[in-house]
Formats: sequence, structure tokens, C-alpha cells
Amino acid sequence: HNHIDHATPETVSAAVSAGDTHPEMPDYQTLEAYAAAGGYATLKALRGGARSVDEVQADVLEAGLRGMGGAGFPAGRKWGFVRGAEGPRHLAVNGDEGEPGTFKDRWFLEREPHRFLEGMLIAGWAIEAQTCFIYMRDEYPAVLEILRREIAKLEAAGIVAPGHIDLRRGAGAYICGEESAMIESIEGKRGLPRHRPPYVAQVGVFGRPTLVHNVETLCWIATIAKEGPGAFNDHGANGRKGLRSFSVSGRVREPGVKLAPAGVTMRQLIDEHCGGMAEGHSFKAYLPGGASGGILPATMDDIPLDFDTLQPHGCFIGSAAVVVFSDRDSMKDVALNLLKFFEDESCGQCTPCRVGCEKAVKLMAAEKWDRKLLEELGRAMEDASICGLGQAAPNPIRSVLRHFPDEV
Ligand code: NAI
Ligand code: SF4
Repeated sequence: HNHIDHATPETVSAAVSAGDTHPEMPDYQTLEAYAAAGGYATLKALRGGARSVDEVQADVLEAGLRGMGGAGFPAGRKWGFVRGAEGPRHLAVNGDEGEPGTFKDRWFLEREPHRFLEGMLIAGWAIEAQTCFIYMRDEYPAVLEILRREIAKLEAAGIVAPGHIDLRRGAGAYICGEESAMIESIEGKRGLPRHRPPYVAQVGVFGRPTLVHNVETLCWIATIAKEGPGAFNDHGANGRKGLRSFSVSGRVREPGVKLAPAGVTMRQLIDEHCGGMAEGHSFKAYLPGGASGGILPATMDDIPLDFDTLQPHGCFIGSAAVVVFSDRDSMKDVALNLLKFFEDESCGQCTPCRVGCEKAVKLMAAEKWDRKLLEELGRAMEDASICGLGQAAPNPIRSVLRHFPDEV
């Protein structure tokens, strides 16, 4: 990791000027500011042997950190799978934040890019990653420019070898956020999800064992490695532990990214974090987890919002993209809009999803829904689709049939 001699001023300025200049660059924490505040001391200490990988992994496990991309798989256990597979290994960062309503990764990157980068390099150290691929959505031009600039600075400072971090741009396909489709895309192919097993921990980028983490997960890894598990699991509400960054949008007075204890309820989020409902709107329903996590009615505003807590209600929190609806919104229109999104974004490789989404959209446009047929279609999609897109696409339909039958 220490190839300072390779980073000549020419290569650095070429890397910086290669990026398009984005007119509105956020006021983010630069390498200079991050380092002045003690940044990269943890990474350097770990590389110097101050603590073993096992110790850091134990901290990540003790913190209870789960994958913040939405699936919530225990981060420390992933390290174990990848470390157990024979090298060379890679790390791939999923920065293709495409779930409708989700914008928290952008929020982290536009503020603290080096917290993320240090977390990534710590995870890379833990699995002895040959290359750290960052797959970043092209719809975040400022983020791409920040990363280009700051990665060049890391190379110039000798903190990473040139080429160790490989920044890739996505091209706007939702499905490329599915981890195996993302890997296909990194390899230069069309982004089609793969069957699993094998999991990417065994067969990932270019056939090598790969650790895939979401951007936010890596930010928390940096914090836990630096400050210990308590920095994460000392927080929590309503019997849950940890922190979540909720991307809140819709009919609230103050939408935005809200860093709140895991387990906070919808009622608390609206009242204590979002300044209440927007003027003239009364709370009717919410999406707890973007397009795929289902829809809940306002009467169910007291459920702790976290992984696992929404399953009994047919929903999931996913990446914590909370969209708030009011008495002015039609839940039938909301569900139809979501299914049109899935129809557009289906990669088309498997029939239940490709044809199922299209059929669902047609059936949902009818004034009165054919409940039996929609339920049967949803079951086929869930059972037989290759990836999460087709499996979760019927969720909004089920939610409307369950909670808002009068509207359809
Ligand atoms: P998953 O639960 O199948 O997998 C989660 C992670 O754990 C993956 O990295 C997988 O490789 C790993 N894993 C699971 N079982 C494993 C095993 N036995 N051995 C080794 N590794 C294993 O979930 P999936 O399909 O990857 O993600 C679905 C979630 O993605 C949804 O809950 C949704 O909320 C979220 N999502 C987030 C988006 C965003 O923009 N943040 C966009 C779309 C979906
Ligand atoms: Fe593609 Fe949909 Fe099949 Fe996933 S479920 S592989 S998005 S067609």
C-alpha cells in the first residue's frame, strides 16, 4: 500500500482534470481537513499492526452493524466469508444508490468523503483487497468529482498506491445496484443479475472473492474502527440498537436525511425530526423502505423502524427511504407508479419479472382491481424471479390490497 514514488505531480493533476467540473460543488471535508482532525490515523495504525483483523472484525460484529444498502446482512460476517476464501480478493463498493427515495449515501459523500474512503480502506485492509472498486452512479456528478480529486490526493500522499482504488461510473440502470449485476457491469458487461449461489463472497469481480459493501456501511466501519462499537450500538430506541440515516421525502415540513436511532417510529420521525406534516396535509400512509419495502397506513405509525421489525406487516425498511403521503395522495396511483418503475427497470432476463411487471401495470390501471389474479401474479413473481427486483415488485400491490382495499 505504500507506493508514494509512483504518484508524480503529473499523474495527480491529470486525474483531477479528467473530471467534468460540476458547477455546484458542496463544501465537503477535504483530505487536509480530515487529516488535521486525526483522519487516517486509524488506517495507518492498523496497517502498522496496532490491532489484528480479528480484533477489528470482533468490534464490527459487536456493534451489530448490518448492511445499510438495505438487506441488513451482518457486515462482520461478510468479512468472515471473504477472508475464508482464497485470494486474490477484491472489494467493491456499491454506490449505485438507485432505490427511489434514497439519498443518504450522497449525503455522506458530499459531506465526509474521507470518512467513507478510510472505512473502505480499512475493510480493504481486513480482506487484503487487491483492488477497491467504487461503483458510483453517474447521476451524482458532484460526488464523482469529489472522489476523483480526493483519491488523487490520497495517491499523491502515498496513502494508497495508484490504481488501488478504481472508480467506475454507472450509467443509470437501477438493476446495476443489485450486487451481481453491479459486478457484471464493473467487468464491462451488461448488468444482468447472476444466480446465487455462488455468492459474491466466493465468486465476485473477475471471478475473485469479493467483499461488497454499501457506502454508508463503510462510513460506520470507519467510525467503529476509530471509536469502538459503542459509537454505534450505544444508540437506539424502542428496544432496537444502532443508528439509521433515514432519507425522508414527501409531505413533511422538513424533508432530508435524518440521522436517528434505529427503532424510532414513524410518528417520532415526523414530529421530532421533520417538523411535522407539511401545511394543509394530514398523514395518510408511508413507504418505509423505498419502492420495494411496501406501504403502511398512518394508523401503523408506532412500529419501531428497523431491520426485521416490519416483516410481520409484509414490509421492510431496506435502505430507510421513507416517503410520506397525505390525504391528497391516492394509494392506487402510488402503487401503479411504483410498478411502472419496476416495469421500466426490469433487466428482462427472466419471464416472471419481465412479463409480470408489465401485466401488473395493465391490471392495476383498471378501475376495479382483480384481486385474485393480482395475488396469483404476485406469488409467481415472488417465487420464480431471479433477483430481488422481481421478488419485491408485488409488495406495493399487496400493501394496497391489505390496507387500502376501498381505493381499488
Ligand atoms: P440479500 O439478503 O440476498 O444479500 C445481502 C448481502 O449478503 C449480499 O451482499 C449477499 O451476497 C450477502 N449474503 C447473503 N447470504 C449470504 C451467504 N449465505 N453467504 C455469503 N454472502 C451472503 O439481499 P440483496 O438482494 O443483496 O439486497 C436486497 C436489498 O437491497 C433490499 O432489501 C433493498 O432494500 C435493497 N435495495 C437497495 C437499493 C439502494 O439504492 N440502496 C436499491 C435496491 C434495493
Ligand atoms: Fe432481471 Fe427482473 Fe429477473 Fe431480476 S427478477 S433478473 S431484474 S428480470
